[in-house]
Amino acid sequence: MSHENDEPLLIAFCCQYCSYSAADLAGSMRLPYPPNVRIVRTPCTGRLEVEFFMKAFEKGADGILVAGCLEGGCHFTEGNLLAKGRVGYTRKFLSEAGLDAERIRMINISAAGARPFVDHVNEMLAVLKKLGPSPLKSMNPSKNAEIRI
Ligand code: FES
Repeated sequence: MSHENDEPLLIAFCCQYCSYSAADLAGSMRLPYPPNVRIVRTPCTGRLEVEFFMKAFEKGADGILVAGCLEGGCHFTEGNLLAKGRVGYTRKFLSEAGLDAERIRMINISAAGARPFVDHVNEMLAVLKKLGPSPLKSMNPSKNAEIRI
């Protein structure tokens, strides 16, 4: 997956139960959001490991949004809490490496949360635009690398 213009590339990992449904609903409601967000559907955010996030950065992502069910509402009981911890760990790691922790964040959203989903995406893209391209991109040997997770 590549993004050729100057707009930041945002990867949104969405759990299939709530946040993916919210993103899908946003599409059905024709709520516009920029094309430079790539949605990756995952069974549960608890499936996501720190290495997935780092791989996405290495492959060209400028930022990552992890979108799970509301706390207490995860269909696998506490997957979103595990994800919260892993996102927190990744933020700490980025900070310690001299990178901006704001490049990754977690949100919790209900299946009906189309508008909040779009608002979070737009807010995150605005932050990424301010930060500029991720320095981790330079670790990517191929400009046209694909993100495969
Ligand atoms: Fe949605 Fe676990 S099923 S975060």
